[in-house]
Amino acid sequence: MANGLDDVVAAETVLSDVDGLGGRLTIRGHSLPELAGRWSYAQVVQLLLDGFFDDLPGDVELAARLGQARSEVFERLRPMLPSLLSVDIYSAMRAGMALLPDGETLADALRLIAAPAVLTPALLRLRRGEQPLAPDARADHAGDMLRMLNGTVASPALTKALDTYLVTVCDHGLNASTFATRVVASTQAGLTSAVLAGLGALKGPLHGGAPGPVIEMLDAIAAHGDAASWLRDEIVHGERIMGFGHRIYRVRDPRADVLKAVVRQLGGEGDTGNRLAFAEKVEQAALDVLRAAKPERSIQTNVEFYTALLLEAAGFPTDAFSNVFAAGRAAGWVAHAREQQTTGRLIRPQSRYVGPMPDLVA
Ligand code: COA
Repeated sequence: MANGLDDVVAAETVLSDVDGLGGRLTIRGHSLPELAGRWSYAQVVQLLLDGFFDDLPGDVELAARLGQARSEVFERLRPMLPSLLSVDIYSAMRAGMALLPDGETLADALRLIAAPAVLTPALLRLRRGEQPLAPDARADHAGDMLRMLNGTVASPALTKALDTYLVTVCDHGLNASTFATRVVASTQAGLTSAVLAGLGALKGPLHGGAPGPVIEMLDAIAAHGDAASWLRDEIVHGERIMGFGHRIYRVRDPRADVLKAVVRQLGGEGDTGNRLAFAEKVEQAALDVLRAAKPERSIQTNVEFYTALLLEAAGFPTDAFSNVFAAGRAAGWVAHAREQQTTGRLIRPQSRYVGPMPDLVA
């Protein structure tokens, strides 16, 4: 029995397919390159939720409803935000989301999807001593998130970059957080409880917690000066190289190429361009070191490597990178929760007991 449930099919889904050998991600019949950079996040939310709510509107109306949901989240949770800041920024966001009603309506779903995009900038502003900015319900979702963070309207290029990121990470098969979400949804708990399970799983560095450490790694390598020797040393000490490897992909994660292209478009001669040039060298060194250290595995670049560069360029601090991941993945979690609930079947696997048995008393 595999401890990590490798190759176990635990759900049937119409939502997404991860082809680990072909390096392809399909979302509801569309390939990732068809969606990323072409569809807005609101359109992809509509695509993912299609069929799971009787009152789901078309994509234009859905974008407006998502804006309204951002405003509702802000109004409901604004008074509580200062008290959440005693913990890290991800846990603070999660604590705020836990205060949303545990319902099943489309309005509940949209508030959960909107919440990370509202709470993250608000909490970051409070942490640096600034007042949170209210959402603009009519604005584009990604653009509004950036305005609420920085206080100024972001450039079309940066808005597009963040929107493309949110679309790129919106859903990804039965990853750890989506599985956790489906387990809780299968108990017929409400959508907030299900999404909170996903949030807990996403936090770990083996899942959504990797992009912050990617920046720390790039900075450490820049200070050290020799990428290959720094990376080899990490492997010798049993550390994992952040931004590389995947349970399903045996080839390069297709999301890495999408996000690298986005960073390149943002890049130019400035800081982002220099960061990208350096990161590309580190990437090549890491692939070489990993190939030499684990010749039996195919350990390739994953989504988190270029995520780190993109979110750094967008102005998010490293400890909020997973919050932004959650802002994209929330749509997938809600859709999977609804899909699981429609099966009506509790997820309840078995364990094999390998501990001691009680002494038999005669
Ligand atoms: N750095 C160093 N070694 C790695 C590695 C990495 N990034 N990724 C996998 N490996 C090694 C493991 O140590 C293990 O080696 P061992 O068999 O000698 O103990 C082996 O490769 C396991 O490979 P595999 O089964 O393909 O990976 P996994 O499913 O156990 O792990 C991850 C998948 C994502 C957890 C893993 O690749 C990882 O920890 N990556 C770094 C964190 C990261 O980027 N997470 C974001 C994922 S999108």
